[in-house]
Amino acid sequence: MQLSTKHLLGIKHLSPQDISLILSTAGQFKEVLQRSVKKVPSLRDVTIVNLFYENSTRTRISFELAEKRLSADTINFTASASSVSKGETLLDTVNNILSMKVDMVVMRHSASGAPHFLAKHIPAAIINAGDGINEHPTQALLDAFSIQEKLGSLEGKRIVLVGDIMHSRVALSNIYLLNKMGAEVMVAGPPTLIPKYISEALNVKVEYNLEKALQWCDVANVLRIQLERQNQVLFSSLREYNLAYGVSRRLLDGLKKEILIMHPGPINRGVEIDSDVADSNQSIILQQVENGVAVRMAALYLLAGKKTDQ
Ligand code: CP
Repeated sequence: MQLSTKHLLGIKHLSPQDISLILSTAGQFKEVLQRSVKKVPSLRDVTIVNLFYENSTRTRISFELAEKRLSADTINFTASASSVSKGETLLDTVNNILSMKVDMVVMRHSASGAPHFLAKHIPAAIINAGDGINEHPTQALLDAFSIQEKLGSLEGKRIVLVGDIMHSRVALSNIYLLNKMGAEVMVAGPPTLIPKYISEALNVKVEYNLEKALQWCDVANVLRIQLERQNQVLFSSLREYNLAYGVSRRLLDGLKKEILIMHPGPINRGVEIDSDVADSNQSIILQQVENGVAVRMAALYLLAGKKTDQ
């Protein structure tokens, strides 16, 4: 089987079959990663550049590790340490790198749509590693993989995304993916951090009361408050945000069931999630990070195959 797309720009452009294929391939790579020899020769003749115009810990390391596990040659590009500081454009930068016989591009950029722009101008396959407030497709895929691993399937499961929905590319990619795969989706948080009309536009439930949202769900995916993307005051203080919307042990103990707690990272402990929740047995935050490598191996492997066959 093959993906229906040459690039992985967003979940919006994937079919349910594409998503299932990536998740099942990731399952096979997860088995490889449990072996003593964790490396396969699948991308031995492929060269990949990791083009990071914005900071990252998990995504960057995870892609680099996935590429190494697949035996690809990798180059790491950090915008702040490059000739971007001398005024070189995104397109000139990428064309210069591609002229050195690079096959695939993994890109993170603070501008929404940057990888989509690049896809119109270069022949190489592109994986979006997060673009502004638009999408973060591999995060949504690893989140879905982690839910499936714990709950068996996504179909009919109730997932609430909590917090800064307005500025979250993780939220948008999760909403697209979960809806395509038959899950029920809710967003919860203060009205100032939830876009108006999101319910109609994206087929999600909206809840401004965190306790009610947690009562409703099987899984709570807690999102970081993205202060760096907010250009106006959207809530009174971090302390008051924590009191109203922080996921605390007291709130979880008040539920009549045990829900799964997720967070894409980086965590702001004591703001959107308390430490005793983040570090509890209910939390699968580090399992999400672990699964990121297998999911990114799957995406790279399937897209490299697509390119070779074209
Ligand atoms: N989840 C995530 O994208 O984390 P990083 O910003 O560290 O890559």
